[in-house]
Amino acid sequence: MHRIATIITATLLAGRGVDALPLTPTGNPYPVPAYCPFTQSKFLPFYNTGNQNWNDAPSLSITVNGRPLIATMDTGSTGIVIDAKYGFNTTYLQKNCEIGHVFYTSSHWLQEGYWCTTDVDVGGVVTSALALIRTNEVCCPKFADGHRCQTPEKACVCKGTCTSTVSEGALTRRVLEEDEEVSKIEPRQTTTVGKAYMGIGFARGNPPSHNLFMNIKSIDGVPVGSKFRTGYVINSTGVWLGITKANTAGFSAVKLNLREGNADNRDWAEPPCDVQINNGTWVTGTFLADTGIPNAYVKGDVANKEGNEITIRIPDPSTPFGEVKFISVPKAKAGTIGTENHMQPTWVGTRSIPGVNTGRKFYNGYDLYFDGDGGYFGLRKKSN
Ligand SMILES: *[C@@H]1O[C@H](CO)[C@@H](O)[C@H](O)[C@H]1NC(C)=O
Ligand SMILES: *[C@@H]1O[C@H](CO)[C@@H](O)[C@H](O)[C@H]1NC(C)=O
Ligand SMILES: *[C@@H]1O[C@H](CO)[C@@H](O)[C@H](O)[C@H]1NC(C)=O
Repeated sequence: MHRIATIITATLLAGRGVDALPLTPTGNPYPVPAYCPFTQSKFLPFYNTGNQNWNDAPSLSITVNGRPLIATMDTGSTGIVIDAKYGFNTTYLQKNCEIGHVFYTSSHWLQEGYWCTTDVDVGGVVTSALALIRTNEVCCPKFADGHRCQTPEKACVCKGTCTSTVSEGALTRRVLEEDEEVSKIEPRQTTTVGKAYMGIGFARGNPPSHNLFMNIKSIDGVPVGSKFRTGYVINSTGVWLGITKANTAGFSAVKLNLREGNADNRDWAEPPCDVQINNGTWVTGTFLADTGIPNAYVKGDVANKEGNEITIRIPDPSTPFGEVKFISVPKAKAGTIGTENHMQPTWVGTRSIPGVNTGRKFYNGYDLYFDGDGGYFGLRKKSN
């Protein structure tokens, strides 16, 4: 049976671990903090093994109310939508949870349900976050507010794949970048039974209270304590939950700022980067390596057009610890140009804000880590 935590874990964790840690003394201008005190962590191999070229989004095996689900691990969104049929009943939801919804303005899909602090077991790591427990999914072009669709649209006029009926693919993303929305919604509508969509990114709309990877309670039955540092390390075969000295060895890191209007003191902003197009001027923006998409979105100083040579440096052009170069490819030619480059996105669209969303091919060149307690973002170049 599922348990609903009565206290939002984020509040309890909020005060811990954000004190400045000494930086590891090396010649590196971007050293990782000294994580020696933190030893509690677990490596979770991806469910879809054999996806080591990042052609597909990574997934993890999770359990909700004792029922197994396969969850896509998306760094480009924050939050999880779980279908109510996985052990939730309406009586319970109405009594104990808050009525809610997620609405996608670009596709007009409305996810109706309840906001419930929900325990999820991710490979022995028990975490608890505010999830939308979905009771219905409806195409609602006339949606105003009030959590429920007053005028559902049967003859579908929505964009995207509105013709499909209720899907198991949970859509968790708030509209931040309209173009990115549309492209992500299409595949998300077609997922099959027993799947969930788990957004574990930061600075992607929802606050840390919605992020399962920010609200871990125990690892293999051992409650997290002073030896646990919230955060994750992503490589090509899986994800470490809990930052340690060992699993961040070889990384460089940059300190993150809190977001403007931050919800709490762990609500970190996106890391910085600079974009250069065709050897032109460096433009400062923000960086995202979104595991949910194979394509990229870029905004620099010139318009996006086929053949543009794009260079990204993280965190800045002069002393970068991360660099990626790729060619702009229109969507119509997706996956046909630049394929000898293992970090080449399938296609490249225009981002709404300066900077880049590299998409998941970036992980062919770098491992990535995020320190959720202290607000650090780091990269480690792969040896291949
Ligand atoms: C609804 O769920 C609650 C909590 O898990 C449980 O105690 C209750 O028996 C369930 N009711 C029905 C009708 O299934
Ligand atoms: C990812 O990390 C795990 C745990 O340290 C390790 O076993 C695995 O070999 C790593 N994968 C790659 C591709 O480096
Ligand atoms: C950018 O500079 C490099 C090195 O000087 C050169 O090989 C390349 O052709 C230039 N690219 C463009 C688009 O000007």
